[in-house]
Amino acid sequence: MSALIEKALALLHAGKLIGLPTETVYGLAADAKNKSAVSAVFAAKNRPPHHPLIVHIGRLSEIKDWATHIPEEAYQLAEHYWPGPLTLVLEKKSHVLDEVTGNQNTVALRMPNHPLALELLHAYGSGLVAPSANRFGCISPTDEAAVWEELGNQVSLILPGGRTKIGIESTILGLHHRPFILLREGMITRNELENFLGQDIIKPQAENTLRSPGLLASHYAPRTPLHIIAKDEWKQASQNVSSAVILSRCPAPPDLPSALTWCLLPEEAPLYAHELYATLRQADSLQAEVIFVEALPITCAWEAILDRLLRAAHSKQEST
Ligand code: TXA
Ligand code: MG
Repeated sequence: MSALIEKALALLHAGKLIGLPTETVYGLAADAKNKSAVSAVFAAKNRPPHHPLIVHIGRLSEIKDWATHIPEEAYQLAEHYWPGPLTLVLEKKSHVLDEVTGNQNTVALRMPNHPLALELLHAYGSGLVAPSANRFGCISPTDEAAVWEELGNQVSLILPGGRTKIGIESTILGLHHRPFILLREGMITRNELENFLGQDIIKPQAENTLRSPGLLASHYAPRTPLHIIAKDEWKQASQNVSSAVILSRCPAPPDLPSALTWCLLPEEAPLYAHELYATLRQADSLQAEVIFVEALPITCAWEAILDRLLRAAHSKQEST
């Protein structure tokens, strides 16, 4: 075992917080059974209480350590998609801390697909809570530097896992209710899960959204106001602003005015997702008056990305 993993294990045993690379975004990890460590996670993120955390596990057999009345589909999904960007919400076992579940009777579980995370989880042998390692309402970090920027003085160690592969947070599927509920969109789409399971999956009703910060409009937002515009609308949209950043999937025009910064994002949804948060973070750092994002295809493959952008746009409209 590497000295770094040993150090991470010792810190976790001591109730400290560490930056954990996963395939989606970096997490702020702490021992899920240590009440004061879990409280420290909420404090570090400035996350309101009662918003539940995902418990990350390293082995399939650990599902039953946290959940009860587990439907057969949970094992089918876990065997197929884990380790990977799918979180399963199940009825919780009674020992699971209220701080972890937000006082609900369910627990969210996921096995992240990153070699360092898996090595750490295997060695730890118990669950780690790991919300995205950003201050509440801010952009999730997709590399170590972004974790330092968000929470550098709150973590004892950041495991250096490089740039995250997927780039946006896991899909969350509620299996505690029939029909199953898609609680958060992700790069594993509702269509794909419906096809895999051979059953319908519904979107959440209002009462299911209350305890899901990922479902609040204030999430994933840069500080700079963000607006979604039609393709090629940038010229018109930027007429009345002193400076703007434009996120587009087309190359910059040759006659771009100097007050505008052009960020070229990839054509394909998975590549776009991979770049999105790093690009938003970079766009935000330019302190422009506004960020314009050119509209994206309305297809299943783009749903999770669109979801994140709409939340970022919505939040700024509310606060300005
Ligand atoms: O990709 C991910 O899932 C990342 C990486 C680090 O694993 N983690 C992440 O955690 O996005 P966080 O805390 O930023 O988002 C967790 C989401 C929240 O929307 C929360 O409400 C939801 O999971 N959640 C957690 N437990 C839940 C539960 N019991 N019922 C419903 N939603 C739950
Ligand atoms: Mg988050």
